[in-house]
Amino acid sequence: MRGNSSLNTISIYTSIAVAFFSTAFFFVVNELFEHQINIFAHFIFFFAIFFCSFILFRYVLKQLIYDKIKIIYKTIGKPLKFQHEVKSSKGNIMLTVERDVAEWAINKNKQIRELRKLEQYRKEFVGNVSHELKTPIFNAQGYIETLLDSNLEDKDFMKSYLGKAASNIDRLEVIVSDLLEISKFETGRIQLEKDGFDIVKLIKKVIAQYQFLAEDCKVKVKVFNHENEFFVFADEKRIMQVLENIISNSIKYNNENGKVDIRIYDLDEQYMIEISDNGPGIAEEHLPRLFERFYRADKSRARKVGGTGLGLSIVKNIIEAHEETINVSSTLNEGTMFSFTLHKYRERL
Ligand SMILES: Nc1ncnc2c1ncn2[C@@H]1O[C@H](COP(=O)(O)OP(=O)(O)O)[C@@H](O)[C@H]1O
Ligand SMILES: [Mg+2]
Repeated sequence: MRGNSSLNTISIYTSIAVAFFSTAFFFVVNELFEHQINIFAHFIFFFAIFFCSFILFRYVLKQLIYDKIKIIYKTIGKPLKFQHEVKSSKGNIMLTVERDVAEWAINKNKQIRELRKLEQYRKEFVGNVSHELKTPIFNAQGYIETLLDSNLEDKDFMKSYLGKAASNIDRLEVIVSDLLEISKFETGRIQLEKDGFDIVKLIKKVIAQYQFLAEDCKVKVKVFNHENEFFVFADEKRIMQVLENIISNSIKYNNENGKVDIRIYDLDEQYMIEISDNGPGIAEEHLPRLFERFYRADKSRARKVGGTGLGLSIVKNIIEAHEETINVSSTLNEGTMFSFTLHKYRERL
């Protein structure tokens, strides 16, 4: 009642002042006209003036406050829900206004922070795209220009330079198609084709695909619970992309003689697929940004193994399109663990 009590206090003090001065004036006039009215009538006059001015001041102040509150609510773009509380002076109007304005300020601050973050993200993204595309374009350009300036009779030299130019153009193609894929997810243009399939079978297929890479990197990939079937309901091709990227990352970014373990856990409604390695790990400060486009934790190593930094961003988009979750945890010099959920295929159970 703070708002109303200050309204009442102001009205009372002002009315007392008005009543006091009017009665004094009335008293002086009465004195001048030789005591025609007795003292009792002065009291009645005082209270009548006090009462009338109190009602008047209170009404005028309330109207003024209401007008101001209306402007505040118009400014903050919120409907004024308590007209009649203001008019009937019930409830704590000032506190409600204070709370609504504070809530509005907090929301606005949050929006500003988010917009700034998006703006920063957009600027970084444009910078990253230009940088990533520039490198293979410049390289290919360099090889072709060298060829043009050289002796075109030398077939081996020509073949090797054309090969280098071609591999840079291939890299360009990979980056652009990854970017297009992300953009399709972000604008909701990807239709998932969900069906029931055995996730263990798919994991084995992906492991076979990366067998040579694993041998090259001297990394052992092992899937646990492989004798069971785990039917999930998802888009098989997309989940294959997820597995390809996470498994190839844990091979590529592993140490020599490293290990990659894949486990499946039963979470009642879902299965959780966990891919862990005992590689170099990722520093904690990189983890929150790991799924961003072009983000690489270990830039020099990522470049060496030919990463674009777009893989995990695609993975996250795929998992989110399935309304599932993905998590990463990592300890430097101990290893990294990615885990994601997939809903069970109900018809088969
Ligand atoms: N298992 C892992 N161990 C260590 N670092 C990893 C692992 N997986 C991903 N990373 C880091 O995350 C970055 C982003 O991965 P990703 O988006 O797949 O890009 P890319 O594989 O093209 O480099 C990688 O560059 C690497 O630094
Ligand atoms: Mg990758």
